[in-house]
Amino acid sequence: MSDENVEVAGKPRRPRVVVLFGGRSSEHAVSCVTAAGVLGAIDKDKYDVIPIGIAKTGQWVLTSADTRQWSLSSSLIPEVEPSPSTVTLAEIGGEHQLIVAAPNQIPQELGTVDVVFPVLHGPFGEDGTIQGLLELSDTRYVGAGVLASAVGMDKHFMKVVFEAAGLHVGPYVAVTDRQWLTDPESVRKRVDLLGFPVFVKPARAGSSMGISKVDSLEGLDAAIEEARRHDLKLVIEAGIVGREIECAVLEGRGTQPPRTSMPGEISVAGGGHEFYDFNAKYVEDDAAQLSCPADIPEEAIARVRELAAAAFDAVGAEGLSRVDFFYTPDGDIIINEINTMPGFTPKSMYPQMWAASGLSYPALIDELIYLALHRKTGLR
Ligand SMILES: Nc1ncnc2c1ncn2[C@@H]1O[C@H](COP(=O)(O)OP(=O)(O)O)[C@@H](O)[C@H]1O
Ligand SMILES: [Mg+2]
Repeated sequence: MSDENVEVAGKPRRPRVVVLFGGRSSEHAVSCVTAAGVLGAIDKDKYDVIPIGIAKTGQWVLTSADTRQWSLSSSLIPEVEPSPSTVTLAEIGGEHQLIVAAPNQIPQELGTVDVVFPVLHGPFGEDGTIQGLLELSDTRYVGAGVLASAVGMDKHFMKVVFEAAGLHVGPYVAVTDRQWLTDPESVRKRVDLLGFPVFVKPARAGSSMGISKVDSLEGLDAAIEEARRHDLKLVIEAGIVGREIECAVLEGRGTQPPRTSMPGEISVAGGGHEFYDFNAKYVEDDAAQLSCPADIPEEAIARVRELAAAAFDAVGAEGLSRVDFFYTPDGDIIINEINTMPGFTPKSMYPQMWAASGLSYPALIDELIYLALHRKTGLR
């Protein structure tokens, strides 16, 4: 059996890869755009590719592989529409089969699944829930497992884990629903101690959704209410003055350590963006620039790469992660977050940093599928 093929009843065949996208989170459209990138670049001679969308209702549907349908333009925000036919994953005769079922019809088999590539961002996708579903059926998938995904999604527990691993985390407070509803005054006092400005964030969101920068106590309640629209658990952080440096991490093969890309720097230029917000990320072309490699001293580059690999290991990530830092004028490197399923269109930071480090987008997809196919199933 070659590296590329899987064996079925003694005969090699192309691995069947399900690209799973959309999903229930507010990053549904972003996930569709990522799917367009992956579907456009994946080697279709090497893999048998099945695109499956998750509608905002949670329904799984067989979708078109036409990348135009999933691209973002000013007139089109892509969305997976619900369908009368539902796709499910089931184990039949020892194989993981995709089944399509519709009312009053005999269910149809779509064939065996070898690996799922969940290009889902945010809750119910990047947070361990899909990963748990796939674990239950012993199906291989690209990226981090249940716990690493869940820790990486929660900006509070992520910090707890980073701190325990000796990584430098900025000052913050975590605020639960009960604390805010029963004693808002003590929440305001804790936040006041951080000093302003602060960043108010939903604990489990992404793409900067629900995040506000608050300059004084007067603006705090409104920012908290805005963040609570995304998640009732919040993280409020002291604003950090520093350049935004990111690093892409790719799991090593076998027992090799994680591989790190050249770090990049994000700069948000003009356009009234106070920080790297949703519009700067996705809506306005050219609002955010990536320079890779980041123009920082060589020791800082080396340190960022080391810390990125340490963060990857701290949460127990697998496959891929993007680790984001602040590089302060004093030369401190403070970790902001890890993303276990970072933006993954060809233009996204993660693939761009790998491209600048000598690994192309199609080669990156190939490597991620290789890692997933060669991973053990069961507890790992
Ligand atoms: N503590 C902070 N100090 C300064 N800027 C911040 C801070 N936290 C977030 N930001 C800004 O907000 C952006 C989004 O915050 P982040 O925590 O990365 O959320 P998301 O998970 O949605 O990307 C960051 O890229 C940065 O520009
Ligand atoms: Mg971020």
